[in-house]
Amino acid sequence: MPFISFEGIDGSGKSSLLENFKIHLKGLGLPVETTKEPGGTQLGKDLRNILLRTNGEAPCPRAELLIYEADRAQHVEVIIKPLLQKGFWILSDRYADSSLAFQGAGRKLDKEKVVWLNSFATSGLVPDLTVLLDCTVEVAETRRASREDDRMESEKLEFHQMVRDEYLTLAKHEPKRFLVLDAMKTPKQLFEELLQEVKNRKIL
Ligand code: TMP
Repeated sequence: MPFISFEGIDGSGKSSLLENFKIHLKGLGLPVETTKEPGGTQLGKDLRNILLRTNGEAPCPRAELLIYEADRAQHVEVIIKPLLQKGFWILSDRYADSSLAFQGAGRKLDKEKVVWLNSFATSGLVPDLTVLLDCTVEVAETRRASREDDRMESEKLEFHQMVRDEYLTLAKHEPKRFLVLDAMKTPKQLFEELLQEVKNRKIL
């Protein structure tokens, strides 16, 4: 069954698109589950708190990467693989590309090592489609203005700019897996583009 990940900088609007797409698939009578990283499992919820809280000791970049990867390993093992085997569509709000963008580019960790850790954590499970919601860091920051920033969101604009650039580079290198959508479009336009593309790529 199809496995689709949704990626983007914080505030890009990926979660709303994922939700709209889920409602559509359910309306077609398809078995679909939505999930997320970090925090898709019980263990992951605890790890998410450690990763994103603004009080307490912050993990150093290498520890941060390893915690995201631990969350991912549990997520793949306990949620994603079993559900795919049962015939569910999986829509995941973030997956392995987040570590390449945030920890690889944002934290400047060795990308080859992030690639290896991703492969170890996922045991090689790659999404059929990765939807990248792209917008400028300034727009994303304005969109986040109404809510309180978590630890990652509190990073400077330059950090988010490096994350955005890396996502675009990843998408350029893997055009077959990635679909880049302009997050400035309306939710309806984004949904329609995604639906059309999923049909074009014969995923639906
Ligand atoms: P969310 O707010 O979209 O749920 O994502 C949580 C934060 O965690 C977001 O700032 C991106 C960050 N993140 C990483 O830095 N590395 C990762 O591997 C993942 C999955 C998320």
